[in-house]
Amino acid sequence: MVKNELKSIKILAQKEIEKAKNLKELNRVFKKYLGKKGKLSLILGSLKELPLEERKKIGKKANELKNVLEGKFDKKIQEIRKQAKKGIGKKEWVDVTIPGKKIALGHLHPLTLIKREVCQIFQQMGFEVVEGPEIETEWYNFDALNIPKDHPARDEWDTLWLRQNKLLLRTHTSPVQIRYMEKHKPPLRIIALGKVFRHEATDASHEMQFYQVEGLMVGKEISVANFKAVIQEFFGKFFKKPIKVRLSPDYFSFTEPSFDISITCVVCGGKGCSVCKRTGWLEMMGAGTVHPSVFKNSGLDPKNWQGFAFGMGLDRLAMMKYKINDIRLFHSGDLRFLKQF
Ligand code: PHE
Repeated sequence: MVKNELKSIKILAQKEIEKAKNLKELNRVFKKYLGKKGKLSLILGSLKELPLEERKKIGKKANELKNVLEGKFDKKIQEIRKQAKKGIGKKEWVDVTIPGKKIALGHLHPLTLIKREVCQIFQQMGFEVVEGPEIETEWYNFDALNIPKDHPARDEWDTLWLRQNKLLLRTHTSPVQIRYMEKHKPPLRIIALGKVFRHEATDASHEMQFYQVEGLMVGKEISVANFKAVIQEFFGKFFKKPIKVRLSPDYFSFTEPSFDISITCVVCGGKGCSVCKRTGWLEMMGAGTVHPSVFKNSGLDPKNWQGFAFGMGLDRLAMMKYKINDIRLFHSGDLRFLKQF
């Protein structure tokens, strides 16, 4: 019976349309029912063989079904196209018109920024930037700097020793002085900048690993007056305001006389505040005129040469400049901190 056939076409065709995953599959279903030799098309074609009454009835039903199915096909085409746009059902589909994703740009670490700035200021004053090894021998880190084996001054540097051959992680950048003077004849002007290590308990102002800038200037008549002028110029440029420098007596075995260097507080300008503990001064570094033994240990005659050396913490400089209250933040990897620079 044609009527039953129409019914089964209706059910089957709808199911198959629903199931089709892509346009190719849908096309096959279309051909099967509505193509030239499609099931429904054949029925429509054979209507003329039926008696008039039946032709009218079945014809109406068959045409209605044709409209319904065509509607379903149209809907399904839209659906498949939409899914393809979303990338579902057709993996290789790419919308080349969508704007690309922006790659987040990183930036320099605050310590790198400070390092570059310090180098630039000293280079403008004719200093050369030099480097030395982070793993040092006892000779360069201590002995050559006039720090004898059993001298109490050695206790000032809590040293991290390596097992092999009495090697150690350098506790300061001063050994670079010796290494440089061994190879270069004065007059000379250098800064040595890099990582140093100390076996210390960490707190807001102490780290096991930090950075130092060490300066050395040697010539025939280099004096403490030259040092004061150089360092005052440096701090003025670094903090971008006039800075006063104060020298007070201190002790280092590799300089004689030795000084502790303070600068006018960069927060209060010298009036006294919590940062400078109401003194108006900030302790910044150690310095002094190079000890004759250090010249001798580097192969230079102390009768011919004189000069000054100084050393300071780069981290401390960064903390002063950016008003950072905890040294541990530098290596914390905390993006909330790092993104501020
Ligand atoms: N090397 C000293 C330190 O680490 C600093 C310093 C360098 C002092 C040069 C005087 C001269 O503490």
